[in-house]
Amino acid sequence: MDRIAITGGARLNGSIPISGAKNSAIKLMAASLLTDEPLRLTNMPRLADTRFLGKLLMRLGVSVTESDGPDGQQTILHAPEITSGFAPYDLVRQMRASFNVLGPLVARSGQAKVSLPGGCTIGARPVDLHLQALEALGAKIDLHEGYVYAQAPRGLKGAEITFPFVSVGATEHAMLAAVLADGVTVIHNAACEPELVDLQECLNAMGAKVEGAGTPTVTITGVPRLKGATHAVIPDRIEMGTYAVAAAMAGGEVRLTNARPGLIDALLEKLKEAGAGVEETADGCIIRRNGSRLNAVDIETAPFPGFATDLQAQFMALMTTANGESRIRETIFENRFMHAPELMRLGADISVSGGEARVRGVEQLEGAEVMATDLRASVSLVIAGLVARGETTVSRIYHLDRGFERLEEKLGACGAQVRRIVGDGEPEL
Ligand code: UD1
Repeated sequence: MDRIAITGGARLNGSIPISGAKNSAIKLMAASLLTDEPLRLTNMPRLADTRFLGKLLMRLGVSVTESDGPDGQQTILHAPEITSGFAPYDLVRQMRASFNVLGPLVARSGQAKVSLPGGCTIGARPVDLHLQALEALGAKIDLHEGYVYAQAPRGLKGAEITFPFVSVGATEHAMLAAVLADGVTVIHNAACEPELVDLQECLNAMGAKVEGAGTPTVTITGVPRLKGATHAVIPDRIEMGTYAVAAAMAGGEVRLTNARPGLIDALLEKLKEAGAGVEETADGCIIRRNGSRLNAVDIETAPFPGFATDLQAQFMALMTTANGESRIRETIFENRFMHAPELMRLGADISVSGGEARVRGVEQLEGAEVMATDLRASVSLVIAGLVARGETTVSRIYHLDRGFERLEEKLGACGAQVRRIVGDGEPEL
């Protein structure tokens, strides 16, 4: 298995282009199931997660063609007909979001059998709200032996869906199913994340009638069929935030480009409060830190536009060397502090109690061997490695490859000493 080795101490100077958002791309890919015409997605990131989903979509009858198009990396997805409504466990378990093929499959062909995704390292992550939404739309749902059987032989019907709490995945899933339903669907207490707005724009380009994404109420007027379209994936705000934190951690000056301002304001405010220089630009931002130590600041994760849970691990890494004590509260996922013990192997002083971590900044981290436990946790270890004395090696980086495109190359171009050790033959314990 590959590992990443980081030699700490180099400042970062340069420019990093931000890729298309993983979390948006995988929902947009699922939208290709809704039409018999080709969907061309541009600004596509090339990631393990998009590959996983591509594999699953091919099993369902979608041709998936990746290429370099006139406007950069593109994927063309084309499902002239759905050849199978079966999404097996071995493919769904590799990436939880592939569960979101269920709604489009039922919407287009009236039936589907999709594996339940199971738990994951950041908590139980049930799909009850997804199923509640599909039932409200008239699908008959049965659960047997780890599979969801959904049927709507006469099509889905528009409905009022009120989520008891905000779920990004369930809101997206309800949108993906309702676009072909008969009548009007109103989703109350919808998630407001920018990826929802991206999905709305793509669906509308395909001929759907969706309004209100980005607000708590989304209204979908069903249409009988959708057509092909070209859509550019929104920039990845989590990748942008990650490199912003990396620059603040290592020091120097890094310009983030191909992004969009306004997507990570909650993080940028916290970086400013900690003492980093932040300048917003037309297509991203510039992050600076020259020498002086950052101050400890507190954060609490929240749905958008609050502080993203997917940036919590990175911010914790940043706080390990800040001046003072920082309190980090995680409110979205249970058990999302697995990076804390790994950061402690690098010399961080962290105590976790329930949903809160207290990080007492130390002067210097020390390089060590650490292990990635999930996607965002893994990048927090790379960030810590940027300032740790000596070498830090991060194993199990398949987590990293799920969501960060060409990470070593992007950081390396700014002067970081980061290298991939390819398949060293050591068994993964
Ligand atoms: C998405 C993102 C993930 C991000 C998260 C929160 C993707 C692929 N993943 O995950 O990176 O961290 O949003 O911004 O886009 N829940 C239930 N029942 C459900 C659905 C969710 O109880 O049916 C709970 C979850 O366990 C969690 C909370 O709701 O505690 C929020 O989860 P949700 O917003 O659904 O996250 P995801 O869509 O899974």
